Amino acid sequence: MTRPPERVRRAATFADDPGFAALKERVIARTGHSYYADKDDLLHDRVRRRLKICGLPDCTAYLARLEDPGGRDEWAALEAEITIGETFFFRYAEQFEALRARILPDLIAARADIRTLRIWSAGCSTGAEPYSLAILVRDLLGEALPEWSVTILGTDLSVEALATARSAEFGPWALRTLDEPDRLRWFRHMPARPGRPHGSYALRPIYRRMVRFERHNLLTLIDGASPALGPAFDLILCRNVLIYFHTEHVNGIVRALGQRLQPGGWLLIGHAEPNPAFAQWLEPVALPGTVAYRPAGTEVGEPAPAPQPFLPWTPEAPPAFVPPTPPEPPPPPPAAREATQPVPAGEAPAAADLLEEIRRLADAGETARAWRLIQDEIGGRGTDPGLRYYEGLLALDLGREAEAERALRGALFLDRGFVMAHYQLGLLLARHGRREEAARALDNALRLAQGLAPETILPEGDGVSAHRLAENARALLTSGPAA
Ligand SMILES: C[S@@+](CC[C@H](N)C(=O)[O-])C[C@H]1O[C@@H](n2cnc3c(N)ncnc32)[C@H](O)[C@@H]1O
Repeated sequence: MTRPPERVRRAATFADDPGFAALKERVIARTGHSYYADKDDLLHDRVRRRLKICGLPDCTAYLARLEDPGGRDEWAALEAEITIGETFFFRYAEQFEALRARILPDLIAARADIRTLRIWSAGCSTGAEPYSLAILVRDLLGEALPEWSVTILGTDLSVEALATARSAEFGPWALRTLDEPDRLRWFRHMPARPGRPHGSYALRPIYRRMVRFERHNLLTLIDGASPALGPAFDLILCRNVLIYFHTEHVNGIVRALGQRLQPGGWLLIGHAEPNPAFAQWLEPVALPGTVAYRPAGTEVGEPAPAPQPFLPWTPEAPPAFVPPTPPEPPPPPPAAREATQPVPAGEAPAAADLLEEIRRLADAGETARAWRLIQDEIGGRGTDPGLRYYEGLLALDLGREAEAERALRGALFLDRGFVMAHYQLGLLLARHGRREEAARALDNALRLAQGLAPETILPEGDGVSAHRLAENARALLTSGPAA
């Protein structure tokens, strides 16, 4: 008798797999990811990949493997599979502006006598966050950097994410908010090679050296099993991690992070994560576009003088730029579109799920897989502008510039008010020296962004506000997008 194919023999859904509930409970207890409490399909899908790799038939056998004395490596593989590592450089511009203009100058002034700064990026994923901090700290300390002892520690549960972080090599996906001059200032462009067929960007050693990485489970902060991680920190970032945890865990983690701050230190959590409950242990401080936390009793005092403006997207004096003639008719104001705008009625969850999966793959460095998935699903003909936009970003990551342009234009055909698509198209065209077209696209982005309330967070802008995008588009238009 012929054996049925693997995929038929394995439980197709969690409902067919009696061991799934116990496995799920164990996974949530170990990782804190109550995010999966109501996402059985998603978790089962992730687990099934591990079952296939391990050659195991079901969750009962898999749980036995995990609980085996040698199950540590399999836990690490499963944790890497189920964690969501979305990250990119200078994520959430308002917070980086607060770091540049207030938090870091404040700390630098307060620690000037001991010249020591200790920074922790907790839940750092593949390293874009601690490396962005390294870039910022170096920019602020300038020539004085060698006289300071700066520690930037990145920790994460996922060993796979940490391995990528240590390699400090990124695809355009992680650099998607940076224009070419900043990319070249902070990274070296690496040619294509086996395993990296589309080239990559290697962070310059001067920044890479400033960050070290360790595996650390945030839940151990609550149960007391956490390693010491050295003296208290001046600044802790724990962003876009807490959203996956149960409120009880969130409170426990935030409280414990507060206890690891130096007096006068700062804690930044994700822009969507603040909670009034945190005021029991920490002092919230409102800053433009964000909230930060400080140990209770911190004297707020006068902020240290802000240094020269630092805009992650601002180019270094590129050649003069020819404005477009004649200008294109202005696009309509952007519709109040959420993260993705599903067009065909009834397909909303499908588009949202597809987008989530695509971002998950891309954030895990699997942009080629994400690209194939999007091709299989929409094949360049999608009717969802958000999906076409990501199709464009993925194509850029894979060096498929012509397809990227087509996809971004496709997104704009579906939604002429799509600010980020105009902006990314402008950056792409500028890189190719197509200055007039680039200026047209950037001008569209500028005018659309100016038509919105300045604090509006742009759809698919990964936290960028209309004001910030307008500033960047204006800077590129006046000084000229580099060819
Ligand atoms: C969405 S990423 C955020 C990355 C970065 N902080 C940012 O905002 O760009 C969330 C990260 O938290 C990590 N994570 C999830 N659960 C964790 C835990 N229990 N302990 C430590 N890190 C965890 C994941 O592995 C993932 O890399």
